[in-house]
Amino acid sequence: MKVYKTADYAAMSKKAANIICSLVVLKPDCVLGLATGSSPVGTYKQLIEWNKEGYLSFSKVKTVNLDEYRNLPVTHDQSYRYFMNDNLFDHVDIDKSVTNVPDGMAADIEAECKRYDELVASLGGADLQLLGMGHDGHIGFNEPCDEFPKGTHLVDLDPMTLEANARFFDNDPKKVPNQAVTMGIGTIMSAKKILVVVSGADKAGIVAKALLGPVTPQVPASILQFHPDVTIVADEAALAEYIKEGGKVCD
Ligand code: GLP
Repeated sequence: MKVYKTADYAAMSKKAANIICSLVVLKPDCVLGLATGSSPVGTYKQLIEWNKEGYLSFSKVKTVNLDEYRNLPVTHDQSYRYFMNDNLFDHVDIDKSVTNVPDGMAADIEAECKRYDELVASLGGADLQLLGMGHDGHIGFNEPCDEFPKGTHLVDLDPMTLEANARFFDNDPKKVPNQAVTMGIGTIMSAKKILVVVSGADKAGIVAKALLGPVTPQVPASILQFHPDVTIVADEAALAEYIKEGGKVCD
């Protein structure tokens, strides 16, 4: 696992964008696993800028997103499909028909989970999976639980997650959908490379726990310690606890 420390969110975003950019340049038809939340927004902004300047093209790239709220229409500005269109897809030269987000509106959610796993497998898995990290250590929407879920599944969101995401729903945790469809830990771990972006002092505790603590489904991100190719790009504030506890960072 490689951990890179940056001064702040802006520098974190630029470094993460550079890593994604290098992959797209080397493999123009790559499969990118993408994430939502505040953490990757700056990364997407940088990629949009470089795309507009002609440094990289998404014309052959395919994407698979991690997750989607249950029963939130794609027209809702907090749905993850809306987020992805708004924060990336609408601003770059990507073929939107090959951008994939689980369908949280599907009547038969089990069939949808199966379809999504088959789709990811048919693309050969993600060449790079971008991740943020929740305050409880969730990745995608894999909340702390008793065993690592393998495939795409429906989850009940933790009160901590509803609280954290209330900022997007009039600051009212009751307005946050209480379920979501998410790729499983197995699917995430099958990505060839994993890139995690984390920022802010409020994440310092969970970052240290996930990277240095025992690997346990109670801290879903801790599983990343077992992946052969993980890069963490985090700002100083998010790494404070990790460094204090003796965690190593790359030069
Ligand atoms: C959200 C998403 C995750 C994201 C995480 C952290 O609820 N489902 O994919 O990584 O929580 O979000 P943020 O980056 O806004 O802190």
